[in-house]
Amino acid sequence: MTASTPVQRSFVLLKPDAVRRGLVGSVLSRFEAKGLSIVALQLRQVDGELSDQHYAEHVERDFYPPLREFITSGPSIAMIVEGDEAIEVVRALNGATDGRKAAPGTIRGDLSLSNRENLVHGSDSPESAAREIALWFPEHS
Ligand code: PPS
Repeated sequence: MTASTPVQRSFVLLKPDAVRRGLVGSVLSRFEAKGLSIVALQLRQVDGELSDQHYAEHVERDFYPPLREFITSGPSIAMIVEGDEAIEVVRALNGATDGRKAAPGTIRGDLSLSNRENLVHGSDSPESAAREIALWFPEHS
């Protein structure tokens, strides 16, 4: 590691479709195999209030009501993962938002056909990671 490869923490959510489809182990193993460390992990039933807080920047968007319904539809796995440039690395492993367009080899590219039921969320910036970790794991912020 050098000064230009910072160790970061990213917030990762394995969404209800990952739990329903029995893909938690497969998805988790991709993060572990890459070399990221799981420093916190919790099974969470997301309620509407937590959804609104987590997706605060999207609550006015047309796609938010179905996203809210989906994200509250069953348990999710919330995690903090840590490693060199973890935020970018997680997003690269996840692939593009829409599973139909995500590259083969990525989690969404291999396992999803949807831009809603796309299995996994990863923080999109250091600021988002700090906000999401404080929201989901206040004891770690
Ligand atoms: S944007 O416009 O680039 O800021 O949004 P994007 O990153 O593409 O998507 C943000 C989250 O919204 C989800 N999404 C949707 N949910 C339901 N229906 C539709 N049509 C839809 N489009 C996008 C998408 O899965 C993103 O979820 P996260 O958890 O952030 O990955």
